[in-house]
Amino acid sequence: MKKNSFFKSGSGSRKAFVSSFQNKQELKEKHQENNVSLIKNKIFNKSSEDMNELVDNCVSLTVTSPPYNIGKDSDLELNDEEYWKMINKVFSETYRVTKSGGRLVVNVANLGRKPYIPFSKYFTEALNEIGFIMRGEIIWQKSKGANANFAWGSWLSASNPVIRDIHEYCLVFSKDSMKNSSGGKSTIEKDEFMESTLSIWNITPEKAKKIGHPAPFPVELPKKFINLYSFKDDLILDPFIGSGTTAVASKLLKRKYVGYEINKNYIEIANNRLKMETS
Ligand SMILES: C[S@@+](CC[C@H](N)C(=O)[O-])C[C@H]1O[C@@H](n2cnc3c(N)ncnc32)[C@H](O)[C@@H]1O
Repeated sequence: MKKNSFFKSGSGSRKAFVSSFQNKQELKEKHQENNVSLIKNKIFNKSSEDMNELVDNCVSLTVTSPPYNIGKDSDLELNDEEYWKMINKVFSETYRVTKSGGRLVVNVANLGRKPYIPFSKYFTEALNEIGFIMRGEIIWQKSKGANANFAWGSWLSASNPVIRDIHEYCLVFSKDSMKNSSGGKSTIEKDEFMESTLSIWNITPEKAKKIGHPAPFPVELPKKFINLYSFKDDLILDPFIGSGTTAVASKLLKRKYVGYEINKNYIEIANNRLKMETS
């Protein structure tokens, strides 16, 4: 059968091609808008390894802190291979749903001393492999001495002094392009912009007991990223939303949010916080 070609006969056909392309583009944008209005401001009680509720390219910014599979905040019982498989699935999905020019921020601490586990390095490698482009790294300095552990190793002796971390990392990535050309209204003011574009941020950590979650980050942390890297009304994702801190920050800054969390109790905490902390 003879195929029709848009380019075959003159500029009229080219026009038809351009207009058909524009129609498809408009349909795609309409589909995205419809999807966003269905999923906006929801937290799904399921694993973010599959975020099939979200269409491709709808998220402007993701701010998240992944579970570590060890210690206090972990309900997970995965071996290392299963853990990295899960992380790869979640962030491949995050890549799929992120807009071109959209951003991803991953808050992670390095752990362990025997030996030291450079999680920030492993995450950077995994995220680069998925296709994200790294744009920088923020050192989150928790207030001086807070949370530093007291295992000195060897006290006043060179035999084995141990480094006590008072910081975590926030790894910052883009999809496709450093520039976000989607347009919109920025809400950041001069002083905050000057501060937020420096690589060390001093923010007091959140108290786990107060929130009722073992590892919440302080609302100030996602707030600063949201104000720096997204426009008003943008959709913000947290695939490991825990007690809902990213949702609270998004709502306070008049952005939409969507989150995933496997633990039902944490979703209840998140919904309570959204009521109490944003009204
Ligand atoms: C480090 S905490 C996030 C804390 C959050 N930033 C806050 O401020 O409350 C990681 C969260 O991921 C959740 N989680 C673990 N695996 C998950 C998965 N596959 N999908 C969705 N959530 C998951 C855990 O239950 C935990 O609440």
